[in-house]
Amino acid sequence: MLGLKLLTDPRWANIAESNLEDILTDHAWCEQKAAANALYIITNNPEHIELIQKMAEIAMEEMDHFNQVIDIIKQRGYTLGREKRDDYVNQLAKFMKKNASRNTSFIDRLLFAAMIEARSCERFKVLSQNITDKELAKFYYDLMVSEATHYTTFLGFARKYAEDVDVEKRWAEWLEFEGELIQSYGKSETIHG
Ligand SMILES: [Fe+2]
Ligand SMILES: [Fe+2]
Repeated sequence: MLGLKLLTDPRWANIAESNLEDILTDHAWCEQKAAANALYIITNNPEHIELIQKMAEIAMEEMDHFNQVIDIIKQRGYTLGREKRDDYVNQLAKFMKKNASRNTSFIDRLLFAAMIEARSCERFKVLSQNITDKELAKFYYDLMVSEATHYTTFLGFARKYAEDVDVEKRWAEWLEFEGELIQSYGKSETIHG
């Protein structure tokens, strides 16, 4: 699925379901950070008009997802907790090329985003197929479809603006790296935990 090297053990969904307040809080912040990443890309790449319009759409979709999660939190009488550090995403961020040419860094930022979308999409699939809560199962199914589209969009832009970057080779490196990294996860009640 999406080229991922390692699929999540479905038992992770039971861990997630055992603490819905925590997973929903973490999920809400994931959506907010996804929107922030799209805005970051807009700020740094004003010359690519097609890209920035699409990023604006994605930012709005992510904030819409954020609001949908907040609605669920509200309906269930939960509280939105504070944003917490996402170790998985921070470790992925370290894999992004720094001190490279502007275009190389730009392409890597797009691949970083595609990678997070791919794994989030896979986690939503695992939730939709394995949690007993029918309302949330449907919710996560719908989000899975949306994040899959985002994944395709980021990867598509990386290919479009590749210039001298070998995107297929670099994407394969991302998938390799992520496949190793994710082995330490799948044990806690966060979207990437
Ligand atoms: Fe989203
Ligand atoms: Fe997304």
